[in-house]
Amino acid sequence: MATERTLSIIKPDAVAKNVIGEIYSRFEKAGLSIVAARMVHLSQQQAEGFYAEHKARPFFGDLVSFMTSGPVMIQVLEGENAVVTHRDLMGATNPADAAPGTIRADFAQSIDENAVHGSDSAESAAREIAYFFTEDQLCARTR
Ligand code: TYD
Ligand code: MG
Repeated sequence: MATERTLSIIKPDAVAKNVIGEIYSRFEKAGLSIVAARMVHLSQQQAEGFYAEHKARPFFGDLVSFMTSGPVMIQVLEGENAVVTHRDLMGATNPADAAPGTIRADFAQSIDENAVHGSDSAESAAREIAYFFTEDQLCARTR
């Protein structure tokens, strides 16, 4: 299996709960390395652009309001099978359906405030990483 990268966002609800370190620890224990990170309070334009694929969905306005309601922590994770490994750690979109021990089961309140984002495919990951980071901001693991 090849080394892969994925985009992860710790959403405003989880940042407010002060569990960034707890979530990072889960990434590291699963073999994912952080190769870039930045904390941002997204503008409406940044949030709308990031979630453009959901523009026509009924929840879009609430999603953008939530994602701009406070700072988020954005990181690029690297490791074997990173996209799926990360999605498995996150759990289902609706925390009510998320498996016990997943990030969403442990930290999310509801489907619209669900603690974390993760790219859903290698193609999405490439697009989403480029949305927030330039290539020179991604730090290769050299040792
Ligand atoms: P989606 O890409 O379907 O889920 P995921 O984050 O697991 O990839 O949806 C993006 C976000 O939109 C989701 O994390 C929370 C929000 N959302 C709602 O608020 N209501 C909904 O019914 C859905 C499907 C998503
Ligand atoms: Mg998605």
